[in-house]
Amino acid sequence: MDRDQVFNFSAGPSVLPEQVLLRAQAEMLNYNGSGMSVMEMSHRSKVYAEIFDETKAEFRKALSVPETHEILFLQGGASTQFSMVPLNLLPAGGSADYAVTGHFSNSAAKEAEKFGTVNRAADTTGAKHTYIPSQSELKLDPEAAYFHYCANNTIYGTEWQYVPETGSVPLVSDMSSDILSRPVEVSKFGLIYAGAQKNMAPAGLTVVMIDKSLAGNERPETPLMLSYQRMIDKDSMFNTPPCWCIYILGLVLDWLETQGGVTGMEQIKRERAAKVYEYLDNSKLFHANAKPGSRSDMNVTFRTGDENLDAAFVAGAAARGLLNLKGHRVAGGMRASLYNAMPMAGVDALLKYLKEFEVEHHGT
Ligand SMILES: Cc1ncc(COP(=O)(O)O)c(C=O)c1O
Repeated sequence: MDRDQVFNFSAGPSVLPEQVLLRAQAEMLNYNGSGMSVMEMSHRSKVYAEIFDETKAEFRKALSVPETHEILFLQGGASTQFSMVPLNLLPAGGSADYAVTGHFSNSAAKEAEKFGTVNRAADTTGAKHTYIPSQSELKLDPEAAYFHYCANNTIYGTEWQYVPETGSVPLVSDMSSDILSRPVEVSKFGLIYAGAQKNMAPAGLTVVMIDKSLAGNERPETPLMLSYQRMIDKDSMFNTPPCWCIYILGLVLDWLETQGGVTGMEQIKRERAAKVYEYLDNSKLFHANAKPGSRSDMNVTFRTGDENLDAAFVAGAAARGLLNLKGHRVAGGMRASLYNAMPMAGVDALLKYLKEFEVEHHGT
């Protein structure tokens, strides 16, 4: 298939804006008259330092990150943050609150248990992670070292519609799958982390925003590569950073600005997802998994209730260029990931197919 015949609904790595890919292509062999590709540059060169500094400044601007917070460009994926957070923020003998609302927040909680006590402030496992707990359901420990939650549950298709109130307990959030899709009041958070491969860049980069006052208290055995303070001191260049991914993030941020920034993205993402949920709520064949009020605009999960029909739907979709609609293996069913770079035409093509499939298999 040609690129123009395909809409990629992958949960990650995911679709990137075409304008970004075209610009990367144009700059591939000779970046800005340097005579080389960004892939070939020393991370300490002047030309690369400009890319790095500009990208960081653009990121700060895009999310209005206050100067109290450092922006780090790290590696190891969001999963490395599952251990980096407790190593740096959970003192020996301490306890941390975790809201378990899906697969990745559960993994984060389990990793933290290696380092101290974990209080599961909420756990929606019993409800198959179909909803986000309300503020009053959170069993908060006022002595917790921090409260960790995953803002958007990529696999189950739920998204926190509010920022939890935790008093003086610092908020830590995994925003891997909804970063840059809406404004965030970063000052409310002690730490935010996100793997890049959904809304930001190719896989290989993890962006961290950390309140600098929280850094510097890591356990003595913390490997240097996993010390926030070390990375702050070295401006993410303690070792070779993921240079190419950071460059692409810069191009994505340029593109984001032309789309109205995160405010523009929030409006577009609502429109995209609302169209699909509205259809699902009125369908006699398909059902949305997540409960209203908890639904993700980024990952819409749904099913027919019949595994064979689900498989037929996914296969038929792929045949017409609607790719990667199969749900994650732990959740089953279907999942349409509607990240920032998904054009509305992709949503319309999905809706057209949903309707046709429903008529064929339900006869309405
Ligand atoms: C919300 C969330 N957190 C963490 C991860 C794990 O990210 P990584 O593969 O970058 O370690 C993912 C991956 O899809 C995710 O969606």
